Amino acid sequence: MKLSLESITKTYGAHRALKGLDLKLESSRCLTLIGPSGGGKSTTLRLIAGLEKASGGSIQVNNKPVPQTEEELRRYRKSIGVVFQSYNLFPHFDALTNIALPLEKVHGVSREESRDRAQSLLSQFKLATHGRKKPSELSGGQNQRVAIARSLAHNPDLILFDEPTSALDPEMSAQILDVIEELIQSGKDCVIVTHQMGFAKRASDYAAFISRGKVEESGKSLELFDNPQCPELAQFLERELKY
Ligand SMILES: Nc1ncnc2c1ncn2[C@@H]1O[C@H](COP(=O)(O)OP(=O)(O)OP(=O)(O)O)[C@@H](O)[C@H]1O
Ligand SMILES: [Mg+2]
Repeated sequence: MKLSLESITKTYGAHRALKGLDLKLESSRCLTLIGPSGGGKSTTLRLIAGLEKASGGSIQVNNKPVPQTEEELRRYRKSIGVVFQSYNLFPHFDALTNIALPLEKVHGVSREESRDRAQSLLSQFKLATHGRKKPSELSGGQNQRVAIARSLAHNPDLILFDEPTSALDPEMSAQILDVIEELIQSGKDCVIVTHQMGFAKRASDYAAFISRGKVEESGKSLELFDNPQCPELAQFLERELKY
């Protein structure tokens, strides 16, 4: 993916969440966003996803500006997959329907093909026998695999993950990170907000440190994690790696 965020501002009422955020990537398979709580990572991800509009500045994904009108945004969102910490599944539908229904209703795929595609994704994510279960009948890790399957169902150009493992125990977390790593290796482009520094260093080729509404440092992952330039990032990494 090619990504350009230029002088991005985002305000919520009087609060300035992003204060002139800049980030330019010529070519990246996986970008990780790291940084302290409240720094602006999720806000940045929502703007890239077209779920919210920036207050100022411009965003381009693969040389195309993220659109401004509602109609164009609706189309744009269809080219993106998003996975949140809290899965965001429909609680009253089973796993299969959670994947198939958006395909049918949002993406206009026929009912039969939607359900076929959902079943094959469930198999791919080792959930073949769990399709009839509702989210309350599945574990956190299984629910997150359903959510990832759903985000892939319409074959998006780009998948965005916002702390996909932070609601999971270490074992489930490791499973999900393996799934994400496989996706990256299979050639999917993604942006991941994560606190898993080991994963970020290994799986992403670029990383950006977002703090106080700005990118304070960015670069190739290995360099950024091994040789942070700004003292705030060095301190952040030291704290994150302590436990
Ligand atoms: N919908 C909203 N309304 C008002 N303020 C918001 C909203 N969303 C985010 N903010 C504020 O914007 C700032 C950035 O929030 P954001 O969620 O992007 O941080 P974050 O880096 O993702 O933090 P965390 O690591 O805790 O998830 C915070 O101060 C937050 O309180
Ligand atoms: Mg967040």
